[in-house]
Amino acid sequence: MSTTENRGQFGSKLGFILSAAGSAVGLGNIWKFPGKAYFCGGGAFLIVYLIIVALIGTTVMMAEFTVGRKTHKNAVGAMRELNSKWSWVGGLGVLTGFIILCYYCQVGGWAIKYIVAYITDVQTVWADPTAYFLNNLLGADGTFPVQGAVIYPFIFLALTAYIISHGTAGIEKMSTILMPVLFIMLIGLMIRACTLPGADEGLAYMLHVDFSTINGVAILTALGQAFFSLSLGMGVMMTYASYLSNEDNLVSNTAIVCTLDTMVALFAGFMIIPAVFATGIAPGMGGGFGFATLAGVFMAIPGGQFVGMLFYFLLFFAAITSSTSILEGTIAFLVEEKGVARKKALVVTSVIIFIVGVLYTLSQAHMNLKGIWLSGSGVTFPIFGDFLEYLTDRLLLPAGAFFTTLFVGWVWGTENSIQEATSNGKFKFSLAPIYKVIVKFLDPIAIGAIIVAGMVFDMAIS
Ligand code: TRP
Repeated sequence: MSTTENRGQFGSKLGFILSAAGSAVGLGNIWKFPGKAYFCGGGAFLIVYLIIVALIGTTVMMAEFTVGRKTHKNAVGAMRELNSKWSWVGGLGVLTGFIILCYYCQVGGWAIKYIVAYITDVQTVWADPTAYFLNNLLGADGTFPVQGAVIYPFIFLALTAYIISHGTAGIEKMSTILMPVLFIMLIGLMIRACTLPGADEGLAYMLHVDFSTINGVAILTALGQAFFSLSLGMGVMMTYASYLSNEDNLVSNTAIVCTLDTMVALFAGFMIIPAVFATGIAPGMGGGFGFATLAGVFMAIPGGQFVGMLFYFLLFFAAITSSTSILEGTIAFLVEEKGVARKKALVVTSVIIFIVGVLYTLSQAHMNLKGIWLSGSGVTFPIFGDFLEYLTDRLLLPAGAFFTTLFVGWVWGTENSIQEATSNGKFKFSLAPIYKVIVKFLDPIAIGAIIVAGMVFDMAIS
């Protein structure tokens, strides 16, 4: 089947690659990855992460790409077309995306807030970085965090919706501009961080391989992180590939997108960890890492105000090219499956996401960054807390990837998937036999293990 007329299509090969890489490169790479690499043992964690991306990440991505491009449909429609009993897997993905967006837009808004704060009022941020973060963004002092919970997340979500209102053309245009800029900024910041006096200790930490630090938690963390970072498990890559022409090479696209995403994560690690070591700051985890902890780093280095501002621009660019991809997954479903007009779907979805998102930020005020209850705070919505993140990273994303690989491995069939990946033999795919075995066996087993382990253990780091 060829692309239906009313659906968008990516204008160029590079446009697709940059858009898919834009989806993958996000808060996960820059805000989550460095902290995890640090806490899970540096070099050894990097090796485990690389192995997981190479084996599981690439194959799940290719499975999603082939389903999407084969059908040229949104996640639900795609699964339905290949086997009507499986459309609920696409539906699960749409739900997951919706939940992720609720908090993603809040954090994206915080990045904009920090761009503004670093330009206009950096002394206030630096006077007490942790208090600034907790009070101004989360309202931990009992005041309502108008900027952190409402104004800036609203701006972020409105921008996301605006870009998506232009369909694939909007995504492609944004990604072709922002992704190269992001790369250059990241390399610049990494060089700056690695040349700080004392940075070599951080570098040594990241390069020192000691496998005794690798335990079950580290492996599970690496697996969950790989899915989140590569945008897998909720049909986003399926939806993006559905806008690709049948002449595009899915084998090389998979390799390129996985490589770019992993490079950005590594660069971010080699930017943040050396800087943290050089300035002697103990890295905190969770929401505050990119905001409160790094403020300490920027304060301590020459030109820190400018470097900090660049960093938050980077975080914002990474976040918006990802949030648009998640929203597109939901909107494509509502438009194509439910017949809702695109603009209306955007407005209704955004309003709901916004309301839940505000509650998310407000609920954080009652916990510190490790989930410990803070006294003396204002409005309470204790049910949210970090619950949304746990729900998506530990359960829903792995579940989505698990069912996708079961579907491709056993229902639709790896032969069909390989045919699609190579455009019916037009492109070379010498690893096809390995792909087959991994999708059928290794992926479902390994992913099933994360889901169970995630529910059984209370992981120290999510
Ligand atoms: N990959 C993005 C990040 O690293 C987040 C993201 C975008 C995502 N689309 C997704 C995560 C789909 C899971 C599924 O921040």
